[in-house]
Amino acid sequence: MKILSIETSCDETSVALVEAKGGLKYPEFKVIENIVSSQIAVHRPFGGVVPNLAKREHLKNLPKILQKLKIKNLKFKIDAVAVTVGPGLEPALWTGIEYAKQLSKDLNKPLIGANHMEGHLYSNWLPRKIAALASTRRSARNDGIRFPAIALVVSGGHTILLKMDSLTKWKNLGETLDDAAGEAFDKVARMLKLPYPGGPEIQKLALRQAQGKHPKGTIKFPRPMLRDDNYKFSFSGLKTSVLYYLRDNPKAKKEDVAASFQQAVLDVLVGKTMRAARAYRAKSVLLCGGVSANVALRESLKESAEKYGMKFFVPEFEYNTDNAAMIAAAAYIQYLRKKKLKLEANSNLSL
Ligand code: KG4
Ligand code: ZN
Repeated sequence: MKILSIETSCDETSVALVEAKGGLKYPEFKVIENIVSSQIAVHRPFGGVVPNLAKREHLKNLPKILQKLKIKNLKFKIDAVAVTVGPGLEPALWTGIEYAKQLSKDLNKPLIGANHMEGHLYSNWLPRKIAALASTRRSARNDGIRFPAIALVVSGGHTILLKMDSLTKWKNLGETLDDAAGEAFDKVARMLKLPYPGGPEIQKLALRQAQGKHPKGTIKFPRPMLRDDNYKFSFSGLKTSVLYYLRDNPKAKKEDVAASFQQAVLDVLVGKTMRAARAYRAKSVLLCGGVSANVALRESLKESAEKYGMKFFVPEFEYNTDNAAMIAAAAYIQYLRKKKLKLEANSNLSL
């Protein structure tokens, strides 16, 4: 089935056209279009996302993107419309939902509500340029992801560790008790007077540091909860340590602070994910969410997973941060499960 999907939960307006087939056993997606219009420039002067500005921009961008799709007679080309219903910023979510409702009416196609976090999770089933490593054609279809799998979902609002027994059956092993990983990147970036969003900026500085004598930084920041016997995370203490360090060392090298902070986050994320992967004898380790764009994190988790004979999966860069292609994937699976989500904004929806 062909799905036209809409994502407006935060500061990216995105529309995608995705062809989905294969059912729950071997879902397969072909991304025909995935257009993302970023609002970063609008929010940057405020150092973060302003919900009402996001709403205004989504309203402006949605019709523009739909025109860009260059698909004539959309009515005859799609089978359903899908939209993110949560989690996210309420005014931003509502904009997408109202727009999708109207579109579904105009095109006379059903509307599927999708969970943004399931979108991040299922982004690992979207096509990859590096084709399957799998040996059989059947498993090559879903890139060879095998269960049980451990999935680390790291975004601006969430840090969740999941144990997946199948595509649709999972257990939430633990989440962050305070800041999400992406949020910590953004807040530390602000302390370093770097623009929003902070993740890519910290990565840039850390990469510069990596070319020197101390690639992982010289500052010993804490690794919160790394040794605790659970799968929970906490990043606010680490953030405060950076704040105190900068207060006490006003001449600190920004590259060193960024690299040391990034390494602390990575040690915790990789350490806890691998602990879970080993405890549950995972066959695959999955990484997703905006922070999965971090190259050092991708490399570090891949290396650790492969060391234990597990396969590592991360989406292509265009599907790490918010996009509508992943929403079509989540909507397809939602549709097959026949579990309908209410077509109203639900900012607290989780996994
Ligand atoms: O998934 P996402 O686009 O939006 C949410 O659902 O929250 O994630 C955005 C988050 C931001 O906090 C951003 O700083 C972070 O992902 N991020 C990164 C990188 N690229 C984006 N964090 C670390 N390194 C990156 N390269
Ligand atoms: Zn997201």
